[in-house]
Amino acid sequence: MTGAAPPRKRVAVLISGRGSNMAALIAAASDPAWPAEIALVLANRADAAGLASAAAADIATTVVEHRRYGEDREAFEWAIDRELGAAGIDLVCLAGFMRLFTPWLPGRWAGRMLNIHPALLPAFKGVDTHARALAAGVRIHGATVHFVVPEMDSGPIVAQAAVPVHPDDTADTLAARVLAAEHRLYPLALKLVAGDRVRIVDGRCEIAGAAAAQGALLVPADSA
Ligand code: GRF
Repeated sequence: MTGAAPPRKRVAVLISGRGSNMAALIAAASDPAWPAEIALVLANRADAAGLASAAAADIATTVVEHRRYGEDREAFEWAIDRELGAAGIDLVCLAGFMRLFTPWLPGRWAGRMLNIHPALLPAFKGVDTHARALAAGVRIHGATVHFVVPEMDSGPIVAQAAVPVHPDDTADTLAARVLAAEHRLYPLALKLVAGDRVRIVDGRCEIAGAAAAQGALLVPADSA
């Protein structure tokens, strides 16, 4: 006898801008056999371009404008948390969400909130990662999906994608190569987490069994 498939995890994607990673997650989740569904897209600004593409894909959208809360960052986070609760969300994916949280929201969603960062963490935390990677002369660059903890761009690493740096790269050409890898990486990482393959042990992620190798995505030089 085979048991019923576990219910799909309800995922909220938080965006501030164009939402191309959000679109990659929506595309992956359009397969009903996938372990997660995108149940909500939340933006902190009404002009986030990704809102329109989410709505076009029939995904519920909402806006919690950070500006309305002024300096009161916790009140902004409570408002986000209320939306997540109202939508019955299980997991949160930050995807180009350009607000720093106080420790409150990451604490409340500990082990249930992911972020994608355009660098191979722990290298190049923060902004302008591609220009800084070029300035440092690294030969390999990439992206990381990690659980969110109060400290920025830290937290247990779920999966990473590596891309080559070419001698003639600019920050823009490198960003485009990394972004294409991000669009493969985030669905892969969310599938692992939503499928209950990932455990956090002593601040590091353990990925179950045969899925373990899936946490590393290497984009070979001749295809990038
Ligand atoms: C991505 O490069 C992501 O890694 C970073 O912000 C960018 C968002 O792009 N956190 P998009 O909105 O997903 O297109």
